[in-house]
Amino acid sequence: MMATFEANRSSLIRGIRAFFRLEVGLSRGRVSANEEDAGGDELTAGQMPGDFPAHRAYVGKPDEWDLVAARQVTLLLAAGLRDNHLLADVGCGSLRAGRMLIPYLRPEHYFGVEPNGWLVEEGIEHELGRDLVRIKRPTFRFVDDFSLSAFGVNFDFALAHSVFSHTNPDLALNGFRGIAEALAPEGKLFATFKEGSANPEGSGWLYPEMVPYTWERMSGLIEESGLVARRLDWMQPRQSWFVAAYPNAEGEIIDLSNRLRRPL
Ligand SMILES: C[S@@+](CC[C@H](N)C(=O)[O-])C[C@H]1O[C@@H](n2cnc3c(N)ncnc32)[C@H](O)[C@@H]1O
Repeated sequence: MMATFEANRSSLIRGIRAFFRLEVGLSRGRVSANEEDAGGDELTAGQMPGDFPAHRAYVGKPDEWDLVAARQVTLLLAAGLRDNHLLADVGCGSLRAGRMLIPYLRPEHYFGVEPNGWLVEEGIEHELGRDLVRIKRPTFRFVDDFSLSAFGVNFDFALAHSVFSHTNPDLALNGFRGIAEALAPEGKLFATFKEGSANPEGSGWLYPEMVPYTWERMSGLIEESGLVARRLDWMQPRQSWFVAAYPNAEGEIIDLSNRLRRPL
């Protein structure tokens, strides 16, 4: 158990170093092919990885941890999330969105999927608190196969922020199929992807680098899973949002894509 934890810590530290090499490279103008469209805020001068806890630094720019949470949660609320909805947070990481969604939702209505269990543990320890776990009883599965149907419920909402920006086509399709299987007939998936001008040919998960897709290819993969999708104009400076649902709810997602506009 301890050996696994130590191995996870080493791979975490390697991941954070790689992430910061990428981010610092970006801020200096050394932009990799995957990142050619990247824009938005860079790390503030003088802020280094050591200034931030590992569970925040692992999932993205740690100085934006709070802001990126707010972008996710405001989108779901604007799209109609209520406390009686069942929500799956796919790749929930260190509970960046979860620490706001778990208190909002009724007990036993939040479900998190995350292969890196230590991120959830640190999120509970340092961000959410054990009292809220006791009161709200969220459920977690520490798997990497997108097997959402194992929760045994049908989700009204699924969130996958900055997950499909790191999946090659085989894993993305697997992910969309797993989510589709567990989505309620009127349920909706809100997710981001990295938009690019070419399509990937690799396999599996890539991190912290991103895997860019054209929207045509990404929406094609979503359609292969039985869902239809529309892009959303919502806040995320380096990625693009979309909403997906079963074809019977296509009218609703068209309405959402016309109605939802970034407030800032
Ligand atoms: C960029 S982070 C985003 C985390 C979280 N959604 C957020 O916004 O803070 C990507 C997350 O996806 C998780 N992940 C990696 N492989 C995954 C898989 N096969 N299924 C679900 N999540 C995965 C990572 O461990 C990491 O927590």
